[in-house]
Amino acid sequence: MTKKVLVTGGCGYIGSHTVRELQRQNYDVVVFDNLVKGHRAAVRDAPVIVGDLLKPDEIRAVFREHPDIAGVLHFAAYIEVGESMRNPGKYFHNNVQGCVNLLDAMAEAGVRYLVFSSSCAVYGTPDHVPVTEEESYKPESVYGASKRMAEEVMEWYDRLKGIRHTPLRYFNAAGASFDAQIGDAYKPATRILPSLFEYLLGQRDRFFINGNDYPTEDGTCIRDYIHVDDLATAHIAALNYLWNGGESMPFNLGTGRGSSNLEIVNMVREVTGIDFEVEIGPRRPGDATRIWADNTRARKVLGWTPRYGLREIVETDWRWHSTHPRGYHDLPQS
Ligand SMILES: NC(=O)c1ccc[n+]([C@@H]2O[C@H](COP(=O)([O-])OP(=O)(O)OC[C@H]3O[C@@H](n4cnc5c(N)ncnc54)[C@H](O)[C@@H]3O)[C@@H](O)[C@H]2O)c1
Repeated sequence: MTKKVLVTGGCGYIGSHTVRELQRQNYDVVVFDNLVKGHRAAVRDAPVIVGDLLKPDEIRAVFREHPDIAGVLHFAAYIEVGESMRNPGKYFHNNVQGCVNLLDAMAEAGVRYLVFSSSCAVYGTPDHVPVTEEESYKPESVYGASKRMAEEVMEWYDRLKGIRHTPLRYFNAAGASFDAQIGDAYKPATRILPSLFEYLLGQRDRFFINGNDYPTEDGTCIRDYIHVDDLATAHIAALNYLWNGGESMPFNLGTGRGSSNLEIVNMVREVTGIDFEVEIGPRRPGDATRIWADNTRARKVLGWTPRYGLREIVETDWRWHSTHPRGYHDLPQS
């Protein structure tokens, strides 16, 4: 029988790609999003309930209207590290209280399976690379702390209400759908690729790499970029793991390979065919030198394998940005 899945934040970047993958695999999908950052046009052919997790009645009503929801993918949150340091209350409120409200509504409705969008930001600057799930928690931003707090809240709801959950700790989400129909439309762009593409499309005057004096081969920081469609398949694998009786546990989602900022820039030159110069700016305080995932647990326990590397990430992201320079505003609005 077709299972129904609730996707909070399903109109956002990663949520919308996961909605598509759920539909491709014939799940029934309901999206819940307040559209503060998401776009209705990012979701086609699935019902979108416009509501706010900070309003407990609005999320409770979803479970009453859809008593057949079998599991929840929880993407809805604020995501900007810098903003979280300027406005901590906004992040603790939305990312932690929003999660509490969801868990209360799930407990009331008897829904016991939850896949949560966590982040490698819970580790801060890791003591070891590649980073395993056993790494200690040392978040260096309010954003990272809010993700870890939400995980702790879930651990209590597991003990007290039997809600089983898998925090998926993404490394750097990147890329877009291969048909360039949906992609990262977050404004202002904060991630390296969208920021660089805005520069190439003449939407920003300058593009900086933050520091080239790190102790790495080319002097720039190293991160693990994971294609958004690989994240989508991991969510569905995690939900099936829970439905099949799996215990609550976190999973790192990365490719297991790091790419330096200069490698990214060179791949962008190669894929776009545009020759451009980049400026080197100062280091950004709090940036770890190198971080990439040990994804062994997700491979073994979830049976998940990332399919795409840096080239596909850059190709799909460029195809999306170059055909939709104004994001979803370039599409007919419904
Ligand atoms: N993008 C990354 O590299 C990355 C890395 C690690 C973790 N994550 C996590 O993945 C999740 C999705 O990230 P994204 O990049 O797709 O962000 P996004 O901003 O594109 O999507 C978040 C969605 O949640 C919605 N939302 C926010 N608060 C809400 C609320 N109170 N009620 C209802 N809807 C609400 C927004 O409107 C948006 O559509 C987030 O939880 C984020 O912390 C992202």
